[in-house]
Amino acid sequence: MDKDVAGVLIDEARIRRRITTLAGEIAEHYSDRERGLTIVPVLSGSIVFLADLIRQLPVKMRMGLVHVSSYRGETTTPRDPRLIASALPDLRNQDVLIVDDILDTGGTLRLVQRSVGEAGPRSLRTVVLLRKPRRRDPDVAADFVGFDIENVFVVGYGLDYNGWYRNLPYIAVLTPDAGGPTDGPCG
Ligand code: IMP
Ligand code: MG
Repeated sequence: MDKDVAGVLIDEARIRRRITTLAGEIAEHYSDRERGLTIVPVLSGSIVFLADLIRQLPVKMRMGLVHVSSYRGETTTPRDPRLIASALPDLRNQDVLIVDDILDTGGTLRLVQRSVGEAGPRSLRTVVLLRKPRRRDPDVAADFVGFDIENVFVVGYGLDYNGWYRNLPYIAVLTPDAGGPTDGPCG
């Protein structure tokens, strides 16, 4: 597996430190809310980030799930995301925090924010681990962001290429042979 990695963009220690800070920002935002928070992770890419983030959030919470597929087999060509499944509690009048791995074109978050928004939450916020500059939809934004990165396809820490590499403990760029960019390790 490691032989497929051209370079590590964000290592484990940096991820850990940033998540601690990020959890602090989020906890502060919700500190006055005794009634609790509903976390809505976007499967499957958010699972590793989710597990690390929520264990640092001293906030009463429960969880709902949405599963979105963006069919991103090719490393650079996004297709229209589809909501495959959702298992959500009643979100009316609830404080909801969507958790996703990465904000790229914004198609995925637009879909999830719209469908959660239609359920009538009291408040709706979004946290993403990574954000790329290529936003197509100016209406789609994340309230909390782990790292801003370049327009490079990354894997690891939950992010995949054709379903693989989610278990890498860091954020990495693949070699050209494994599906990574052909114009240099961070191209
Ligand atoms: P968007 O819909 O274009 O914003 O892309 C969001 C989704 O595309 C993410 O939830 C990921 O599943 C996938 N994605 C976007 N960029 C990458 C990447 O660099 N590596 C792996 N998956 C990505
Ligand atoms: Mg995803």
